[in-house]
Formats: sequence, structure tokens, C-alpha cells
Amino acid sequence: MKVAVYSTHLFEKDFLVNENKNRHILRLLELPLNGETAYLANGNDAACIFVNDDASGPTLKLLYHVGIRYLVLRSAGYNHVDLKKAKELDIRVARVPAYSPHAVAEHTVALMLALNRKLIRSNSRVHDLNFSLNGLIGFDMNGKIAGVIGTGQIGEVLIKILHGFGCQIYAFDVIEKPDLKNNYGVQYVSLEEIYAKADIISLHVPLTDKTHYMVNQNTIDQMKPGVMLINTSRGALINTKDVIDGLKAGRIGYLGLDVYEEEDKLFFKDRSEDILQDDIISRLLTFKNVMITSHQAFLTDTALRNIAGTTFYNLDCWEKGVATPNELD
Ligand code: NAI
Repeated sequence: MKVAVYSTHLFEKDFLVNENKNRHILRLLELPLNGETAYLANGNDAACIFVNDDASGPTLKLLYHVGIRYLVLRSAGYNHVDLKKAKELDIRVARVPAYSPHAVAEHTVALMLALNRKLIRSNSRVHDLNFSLNGLIGFDMNGKIAGVIGTGQIGEVLIKILHGFGCQIYAFDVIEKPDLKNNYGVQYVSLEEIYAKADIISLHVPLTDKTHYMVNQNTIDQMKPGVMLINTSRGALINTKDVIDGLKAGRIGYLGLDVYEEEDKLFFKDRSEDILQDDIISRLLTFKNVMITSHQAFLTDTALRNIAGTTFYNLDCWEKGVATPNELD
């Protein structure tokens, strides 16, 4: 197939080229997909997009008009795709449902530990020959209550790691996993109980109408004062303005984010020469107890290889006229 690959980043280029093994003809584009760039897919059969590309109804319509009949997502999340419109247009859509839950879960733990043990401050102090320990007190993870919201693939790996630390684990999901209850001492409880009791709360549910802004003024008020809140899932799970109020009031003791609700205007690009226009993220960056990474939780060599491999597998299936198990309806 001929494939227009949008939002191609330098970090993934080699993985895409190597995993393709010259099967498909790739047009690697640095530009993201949106209403203005859809025409660049002209002459291709498929478009391949990344997490922050715009696959809304109007953009899909434009893709259809330039001949695109297949859309492959280099991501697990698909909240950026108007699946209803894709179906209407008969554009088939497939994603990479799992590429490395370990990558994301391990990054989640990296955020927890770095925040808890104040590693960034400590490292920069030492580089400044300041060997003082004042202000660097952390807490033992052992014995703390971790609330894991969403026990799918990533939540499950996180639970196993936190179990190793000796955390007590409370979980919430619409589907309970008996193995986690039986072998990792997980207690499935209500969200209210997690908010009331957890020392650490980590979000691993997809972004849907039901989960949008699940962390807000009301739910923050229910949380334990000084709670550690981690979001490596999707930015709009939390109302960032409310979280800023929670940080200012000292209710949130630590905040670790790998995702941000307005990240599509910022992430994945060097903007160090720009004047930052986003007042919300600029406020977040003033807190010492906030750590932000730019949607890099997935970024391991294993994950990149798997993302590329599954993407081309999806295209191979369609080319051969067979179904791919990764197709979205
Ligand atoms: P998954 O589909 O395996 O697990 C999601 C879990 O959430 C499922 O167990 C499901 O039952 C549960 N769930 C869905 N709606 C719910 C609701 N309303 N209330 C309670 N539980 C609900 O997904 P996976 O692979 O664990 O990924 C989770 C999320 O992580 C993805 O949706 C994606 O947004 C994010 N992600 C972030 C990455 C990053 O680099 N930061 C990379 C990959 C995924």
C-alpha cells in the first residue's frame, strides 16, 4: 500500500523504516494531520497518524476525498478519531492496542519516585556543589496505599511493580481482575474510597465522556491532603485549572504528568525559542512538586518496534483482504 505517515518524529523514523521491510511505500511527513494537511495524503491508500493528530469528522472527509480508505493509528488511545464518521465514509481504522504496557507503567513509577525523592532538585543541587539535604525528605513507598484507577494492561503492570514495593493497592475499574485480587492483594473499591484513603493515585483509564475531568475540584476535595497524583493516561482526565487550585491550597502534595489536556499545541516539538502562550502550563511549571514529561511514557525501543510492527501488520492484513484483530468499529 501507499501510506502517508503523518507526524513522523526523528525518534521513530528508523523503527518505521526497519519494521516496514520495504513492504509498503511510505511517505514520511513531519506535519501533523489536520484540516490543512489532509491533502498531502493525495495518491496514497492509507494514512498513518500519531496521538495528537486530528482525525475529526471534517478531516476524515478531506482524507476520503483524496483517496484514503485506511487509517492506521500508531497509538493505543483513539479518542482523537471520529470513528462514527470513519464508518460512514467506509474508512477502516486500526490501532496498536498493546505495544508495551511495561514502558508506560515503568515511566509512571519513575515519576512517582522522582517526585517522592526529589531527584531533579537533588541532582541539580549536587551539580552546583550544594550537598545539603534540607528540603529533600521523601516517604517510604512501602506500606503506602496506592489507588490505581483502571486496571487494564498498564494498570495491571503498575500494580505488580507497586506490589513489589510493598504498597497496599486499592483499585477501581468497571472490570475486576481476579488474579490481581488473589495474587497481589488488590482490593477493588469505589472511587470515593480511593480518594479518601490513597496516598498515591494513578490514572490508567481511557479518555471517554465518562472519564473526562474525573479529577476536578469536587474529587480533589475528597482526596487525602498531600496526595500524590499521577496521570500518564490522557490529559483531559483531569481539570488542570482545578488541580492548580489543589496545588496552591496544598491539598495535592505531588503532581506527575506525562499528558496534558492542551498538549497538542505544545508536545513533541522544541519550543525553547518561543514565548509560551499557555498560562496554565506556565503556572504548573512554577511548582517544585510538579513534574511534567511530554508524553514520553511509551518511549522505549521495545515499544517503538512494536508500534511500527503492528502498524504494518494491520496494513498487511487489509492488503491481503483479511481482517486485523486491531480494527476499531
Ligand atoms: P486498557 O484498555 O488495557 O485498560 C483500560 C482500563 O480502563 C480497562 O480495564 C477498562 O475496563 C477501564 N475503564 C474504561 N472506562 C472506565 C471507566 N469509565 N471507569 C473505570 N474503568 C474504566 O488500556 P491500557 O493499555 O492500560 O491504557 C490505558 C490508557 O493509557 C490508554 O487509554 C491511553 O490513554 C493511555 N496511554 C498513555 C501512553 C503514554 O505514553 N502516556 C501510552 C499508551 C497508553
